[in-house]
Amino acid sequence: EVVNLYAAALGYLLGSIPFGLILTRMAGLGDVRNIGSGSIGATNVLRTGNRGLAAGTLILDAGKAAIAVLIARYYWGEVPAMIAGGFAFLGHCFPVWLSFKGGKGVATFIGILLALYWPVGLIFCAVWLLIALTQKMSSLASLTASVTAPLFAYSFSGTPLALTSALIALVLIFQHRSNIGRLIAGTEPKIGQGK
Ligand code: G3P
Repeated sequence: EVVNLYAAALGYLLGSIPFGLILTRMAGLGDVRNIGSGSIGATNVLRTGNRGLAAGTLILDAGKAAIAVLIARYYWGEVPAMIAGGFAFLGHCFPVWLSFKGGKGVATFIGILLALYWPVGLIFCAVWLLIALTQKMSSLASLTASVTAPLFAYSFSGTPLALTSALIALVLIFQHRSNIGRLIAGTEPKIGQGK
């Protein structure tokens, strides 16, 4: 159906707005892609030392995805809303404007889940916080929350959300491949530090 194409285009366009890059540039902190992990996400923005910018990146990256989902649901319905969310995720991770080198999709995933079915979004945040507070590693928190998200989605919502979040989680894991290497090697830095 043509509305699914509209939803995909809307999602990709909104998702590909690189707020982490825009905010750090506006603050005169240079190009966030030249520091830490090179990612444009909130975790890497935090490595500039500016917590407010990192929080802003988190909220805006989550917000752009949530808005894509909500617009698509309002005009076209639930399946297009999931498509918009999935493509917002792809837009964030692979933005055409940045030679397809974007972020790792964690904030975007949170926004998608909150907009599609907020209880699962809240559970994602709770799992993330639990691991982040105990292990002090953003990537480990993100991977744990993402891998468990499809299970919570299945239990609390159903198959469509479980499938959507499983596909998103697969791409998210791929985006974290260098983090996974460091986690295995025991060299992944703690939140706010190093790479
Ligand atoms: O939110 C992304 C996080 O999971 C890892 O980011 O910059 O430490 O690779 P980074």
